Amino acid sequence: MNALLYGVNRPRSWDPVEMSDAEKKHHVDVDVLSFDEEKQLARVRVEVGKYLKHPNEPSHFIQWIELCVDDTPAVRVDFTASLAHPSVEVLVHATPSSTIFAKARCNLHGTWMSKRISVQ
Ligand SMILES: [Fe+2]
Repeated sequence: MNALLYGVNRPRSWDPVEMSDAEKKHHVDVDVLSFDEEKQLARVRVEVGKYLKHPNEPSHFIQWIELCVDDTPAVRVDFTASLAHPSVEVLVHATPSSTIFAKARCNLHGTWMSKRISVQ
């Protein structure tokens, strides 16, 4: 069994200087662009391959990105090869104490997870 395909992968370090090229290509970057405390809405961007572009062709591409709020899946976006860039910007309900993380799936290299960050 290939652990890369069946587990959830993370880079050995979150510092891009210490990442391998494969880790850079599959790095899942999650960023809170804004948080509206009154509406309890966070605008979040998730991008795969921020440090090194991931291939995007029918034989090798990012299939989906999933964003979790407080460990609960909130948004999942499916991608097709070639036309879609593996990046999304979404609004999710959250509280000031909420934490978020994202996962992304490469058809060849399995599921990769971002850092967990606070919305505020
Ligand atoms: Fe890949």
